[in-house]
Amino acid sequence: MRRRIMIWMGSAALFALVAGVAAITLFPGSNATPSRVIAKSPIAKCMNLGNALEAPSEGEWGYRIRTQDMIRLRDAGFDTVRVPVKWSAHAESTAPYTVDPAIFQRVDQVATDALAAGLNVIVNVHHYEALMSDPETHELRLEAIWAQLSAHYADWPQGLMFEFINEPNGDMTTARVDALNARLLAEVRRDNPARWVIVGGAGWGNLEPLLASDPPRDPRVITTFHHYGPFEFTHQGATWTAQDYPTGVGFGTPEELSDIREIMRQAARFRYDTGLPVFLGEFGAIHNADLDDRAAWTRAMREAAEAESIGWCYWDFATSFKAYSPEEEAWIDPILDALIPRES
Ligand code: GLC
Repeated sequence: MRRRIMIWMGSAALFALVAGVAAITLFPGSNATPSRVIAKSPIAKCMNLGNALEAPSEGEWGYRIRTQDMIRLRDAGFDTVRVPVKWSAHAESTAPYTVDPAIFQRVDQVATDALAAGLNVIVNVHHYEALMSDPETHELRLEAIWAQLSAHYADWPQGLMFEFINEPNGDMTTARVDALNARLLAEVRRDNPARWVIVGGAGWGNLEPLLASDPPRDPRVITTFHHYGPFEFTHQGATWTAQDYPTGVGFGTPEELSDIREIMRQAARFRYDTGLPVFLGEFGAIHNADLDDRAAWTRAMREAAEAESIGWCYWDFATSFKAYSPEEEAWIDPILDALIPRES
């Protein structure tokens, strides 16, 4: 036992030295020596401020990010916000693909508010559809966009994190995503040697393609996946899906519950195999579903993730999957309680 502790302390000290972060070890079995020291992700409880800065103009999809929302989220017990941004709609279409200073100004303001409230903030590249259909052209543009983001945020606190590409799909195959992630990381590491960077796999960010991916090994890389299963439950009545899912679908069979636990076990296994923290970057149930079922699904997801020490990020704060009602300026209590149970 003492030997194990010594090894743990030795590796942890070494890792903390290299990465400057706290470290945890995973013990795969009672007799095994720790073979992995995995960085502890700073993200535990996160909220997606979705459908604001990826809309054609902020507010057009029903929500504008406000300073007081950061305080509300912090007070409710969240530690991180994820801010989806459609950078591709705010950059020139020809080289050098200059990003509009106005979008930087707005994201800076949101990030400043989040950090001032004591929250970490994830800035991602959301809805880059042209990349998915024409990677030959758009990978170069994305690299130029990330070079600008990297330079712009180089001196910002480490609570600001980067996430390279939301839900790659279409022609962005696993091989392409892996290669692009590696190139983007090399680029941002020039200006941001210690910043947390979040990378995913292909196939709309689902877990299975992540498991087939080869993410860059780096002491400050976190891998991410999204989970909305059963999709016909979480997306019932959604207006943006390729196929229509009728409303009136419930949730909660033993099989559905065990599928959720299995997803989290597989994600934790991937963390062990890669040595990289894993993050459930999106999960949520649409407001068309029955509220009790939404709460039950949300609680089951959150509990299953936490049982495997996987940080999570609910989709979304205030629009179609809302946890908070901007109309009533109030939390939707059963959803908030499913995410962060009130102390009894
Ligand atoms: C993805 C999409 C977002 C959608 C969500 C739920 O993040 O980018 O627009 O609302 O999934 O379907």
